[in-house]
Amino acid sequence: MHELQDIKIKLKENLAPEQMLHIIFHYVSLIASEKDLDLLLLYMADMGRDLILADRCTLWLHNKETHQLWTKVAHGVKALTMPDEVGLAGYALMKNETIFIEDAYKDPRFNPEMDLKTGYHTQSVLVIPIQNQNGETMGVYQAINKLTSDGVFSLQDMNLLSLAASYSGKALESALLDQEIEQTQREIIFTMGVIGESRSKETGNHVKRVAEYSKVLALNYGLSPSESDLIKVASPMHDIGKVAIPDDILKKPGKLSDEEFSMMQAHTEIGYGLLKESHRKILRSAAIIAHQHHEKWNGTGYPKGLKGEEIHIYGRITAIADVFDALVSDRCYKKAWDLDRVINLFKEERGVQFDPKLVDVFLGCLEEILVLKDKYAD
Ligand code: C2E
Ligand code: SIN
Ligand code: SIN
Ligand code: FE
Ligand code: FE
Repeated sequence: MHELQDIKIKLKENLAPEQMLHIIFHYVSLIASEKDLDLLLLYMADMGRDLILADRCTLWLHNKETHQLWTKVAHGVKALTMPDEVGLAGYALMKNETIFIEDAYKDPRFNPEMDLKTGYHTQSVLVIPIQNQNGETMGVYQAINKLTSDGVFSLQDMNLLSLAASYSGKALESALLDQEIEQTQREIIFTMGVIGESRSKETGNHVKRVAEYSKVLALNYGLSPSESDLIKVASPMHDIGKVAIPDDILKKPGKLSDEEFSMMQAHTEIGYGLLKESHRKILRSAAIIAHQHHEKWNGTGYPKGLKGEEIHIYGRITAIADVFDALVSDRCYKKAWDLDRVINLFKEERGVQFDPKLVDVFLGCLEEILVLKDKYAD
């Protein structure tokens, strides 16, 4: 990266072909192996900027549902948005036209509002629509202020940026699709969890709380933020198998008979059966959690009687989150316990029902958990 910046700073004239090739190879290798949409947008913007010696380059994507153009200025930060009919980017998008401008302030389509806010002075502008595989316009590449001495973009710049746009359109489309699939999965999983919860007549926010507690436990245990988030997204499904358990068992006010309890235990296998066919990451994690959240560290849990680290870490984490929430909440078959009694149970069950290391983590982050308990109280 440093090397590329040096080239840009030293040059006052357009790039030589070998410098262009260097830039193209650099970014193509980055873009070809990148699935993260934020990073793709940033790499593509940088590639455009370096190729045509623009001061700024932005790749705006069109959201047809919200009628906005949006982009990322840094990985992970909130998206920047603007209405899809505003300014030069909006014009290029709506008309599906390339725009070349030497002096933006002489063009009625230019909206100087942003300059006024930021103090930046826009002069030359190049905007190129980006098409998806079906030939629909999915966004625009916008370059601002040519850094060469004449200060204007050329026909060659347009060709280069168009080439970059057509190359990166494919990578973008596939990343967008992935993101859409993942978002859809998150929503379906959360909704299914809520359905399971309403069937099982548990208290209102049980699945939400189990999700939040599980994430905190995962982070404090030392799992990565993205894996911890995966557990949060997948754990609301832990009791989805209860949709298949008869109402008179689920709602029974007193203690279950042995036969009733063994029917109840089937919710783990049923949930696993519902989820296990998927190869998607979120659903695979949800399947593991549905299957293993009632396994116990000493091997006396169900359905498999797994022991110790045979139990997947997702199962061990969700087990603690689930039992904690069950104990501090009212159930149709029991009243909520005092916090002291709950803490004592976890101490007694350390290394018996629960992973001892996770119990330590849990007790260590109890304050954080209690904040979430209040935040998502029923
Ligand atoms: P749940 O109500 O969500 O409880 C989840 C887990 O929290 C239970 O798993 C158990 O490990 C723990 N837990 C809940 N209440 C108590 C308690 O009073 N003492 C102790 N030591 N642990 C408790 P478990 O036992 O496998 O039960 C699975 C599910 O079966 C429960 O989910 C609940 O839906 C149902 N269930 C269990 N026992 C009874 C019961 O006596 N009557 C009724 N109606 N349902 C029950
Ligand atoms: C959702 O997409 O609303 C569910 C994800 C979560 O917050 O657990
Ligand atoms: C399970 O045993 O719950 C599932 C483990 C897996 O499918 O990877
Ligand atoms: Fe359960
Ligand atoms: Fe539960």
